[in-house]
Amino acid sequence: MTTDATGTTTGTTGSGTTASGPVAPESTVTDEAVGSLAGTADPRLRDLLTGLVRHLHAFARETRLTQEEWEKAVAFLTRTGQTCTDTRQEFILLSDVLGLSMLVETINGDRAAGATESTVLGPFHMTESPARELGADIDLVGGGEPCVVSGRVLSRDGTPLPGAVIDVWQADGNGFYDVQRPDVQPPGNGRGLFTADAEGRFWFRTCVPSPYPIPTDGPVGGLLRATGRHPYRPAHVHFIASAEGHVPVTTHIFVAGTDYLDSDAVFAVKPSLVKDFARTDDPSLAGEFGVENPFRHARFDLVLERS
Ligand code: BEZ
Ligand code: FE
Repeated sequence: MTTDATGTTTGTTGSGTTASGPVAPESTVTDEAVGSLAGTADPRLRDLLTGLVRHLHAFARETRLTQEEWEKAVAFLTRTGQTCTDTRQEFILLSDVLGLSMLVETINGDRAAGATESTVLGPFHMTESPARELGADIDLVGGGEPCVVSGRVLSRDGTPLPGAVIDVWQADGNGFYDVQRPDVQPPGNGRGLFTADAEGRFWFRTCVPSPYPIPTDGPVGGLLRATGRHPYRPAHVHFIASAEGHVPVTTHIFVAGTDYLDSDAVFAVKPSLVKDFARTDDPSLAGEFGVENPFRHARFDLVLERS
């Protein structure tokens, strides 16, 4: 009998028997666990669970996982769950720092050429963004360098998408989301839900985001410290753009030149998403946007694929 990397046994199999009953030796327990899933009514669920069991077993075999290590892993996952609240998602954070979120995103986010590339959702899109008028300032507390973000929502053939909805969220000038600092930021700070105008245009005011550390006061922070990794993300603004008849895109724009573009703690940077927040000296444009001149200005289009 032989066992491959995922624990699949071939040839003669059979559980041993002891005085206290049958045992599942290392060589057969994987087959037995997989076999126990045969009655799963949903075929996709059966495939997913089968793959999970096979790969978990292969991992334990390959690493010769000890009982003590298994207990530590269970305690770590327990703490991860216990750290989750209505405003904190430590499991998404764990998936992010292990690169799993970005892998799943990449597997599923295969966009046709010309469409805006997607990237991770992250754990801070957990409250509903307040609907705001085009041109509104989402920086309710000030403190960062003022800027304007503007562009159009387009179909891939260049047709503007009036009425497209653009959900925006970002950390404040100190690198914290409203939900992390409810004592100093009002709910909805750094967030806005905008509707593109008749020509598919959107624009809003905000502050230039800064790089920030992902939360490190929980189990994921412990994991980063144990592995000698820094917790920083390059400066960015999050978007979800959606329009009728089109596939929504979840993405960010990253500030060109920001630190950590090449070492994002959650592996989410794609070169096409790095945008210039250009220093702009144009009194008439500043007047149109209602900002003081000179100002920083990020321009980019959100291009959606037809569904
Ligand atoms: C964020 O950009 O909000 C984020 C993404 C992944 C992990 C932590 C934060
Ligand atoms: Fe973020």
